[in-house]
Amino acid sequence: MQFYFAPMEGITTWVYRKAHAEVYGALDKYFIPFLETHEKRDFKTRELQEILPEHNEEIRAVPQILTNKAEGFIKTARALQKYGYEEVNLNLGCPSKTVTSRHRGAGFLALPEELDHFLEEVFDALDMKISVKTRAGKDSAEEFGGLLDIYNKYPLEELILHPRVQADYYKNEPRMECWREAQKRSRNPLCYNGDLFTKERIREFCRVNPGEERLMIGRGLILNPGLCSHSTKEQFAEFQERLLNGYLERGLSETSVLFKMKELWFYQIHLFSDTKRYEKQIRKAPGLSEYKQITEKLLRESEWRPPV
Ligand SMILES: Cc1cc2nc3c(=O)[nH]c(=O)nc-3n(C[C@H](O)[C@H](O)[C@H](O)COP(=O)(O)O)c2cc1C
Repeated sequence: MQFYFAPMEGITTWVYRKAHAEVYGALDKYFIPFLETHEKRDFKTRELQEILPEHNEEIRAVPQILTNKAEGFIKTARALQKYGYEEVNLNLGCPSKTVTSRHRGAGFLALPEELDHFLEEVFDALDMKISVKTRAGKDSAEEFGGLLDIYNKYPLEELILHPRVQADYYKNEPRMECWREAQKRSRNPLCYNGDLFTKERIREFCRVNPGEERLMIGRGLILNPGLCSHSTKEQFAEFQERLLNGYLERGLSETSVLFKMKELWFYQIHLFSDTKRYEKQIRKAPGLSEYKQITEKLLRESEWRPPV
């Protein structure tokens, strides 16, 4: 089985990816959260930090591009190629209104003809591996068959399917009938993504889908970074320390580091039992030193109980 770390804007930064690989062992691929295309300029400093090869050493990182303009995709992909990347991924999954209202991310799925032309242009122009991360449709799962016909026309490196539609955001259950249709009809290698939060769910997925070889995981790994390997309290403590110090060394302000670390605890808190009092304290911690005190106490006193 190959495990991929899903791209998560603001969360799976290069500092996060590096700390994760160092503490838990590298997963098979780490997808870099989406880069937007720029007509008149190169990468912004923040984007450059994400893609610099020296920030992605010892992991297989795949940059992702969010656009509906073939020209922009091609230009950005070529720029990434110069940094040594052999594969780029197209984001056809982002459900956020600001993105989809401009027909990007999952919003592009509502324009199948344009999407087909886009892929044609991109495949004609680029000499790179191109993978797609898609939802099952914009408004309805019935769109999926037509989308699959389009993907089947191109030699994708892989088709990563998060089988929800845009209108689901992250609610409702993944639409497994779309996944099964993809299994039946996709000419491209498939990767499943969605709601694999625990080892048990991963085992169950593998039992029901024998022969599938690629899984992409997002929130489950943020909750339990050791989900795909070993997961001890000591490793987790080490991981947290590397993250916090990594962000500080990278020059982030204490306020930004505090915000980033707090964001993770929305997920990570479920690694421990009996955490009610800590949850609020972490959320309200006014500064990094208070944050450290609370989380150190939590690590010392709460029972380590990753969901099984
Ligand atoms: C906070 C957040 C940020 C995300 N950022 C991206 C992104 O940059 N690119 C992308 O393709 N998907 C993004 N996603 C979607 C995830 O990659 C993934 O498809 C989704 O969380 C479903 O997988 P999961 O159930 O394993 O979490 C994001 C999701 C969340 C919750």
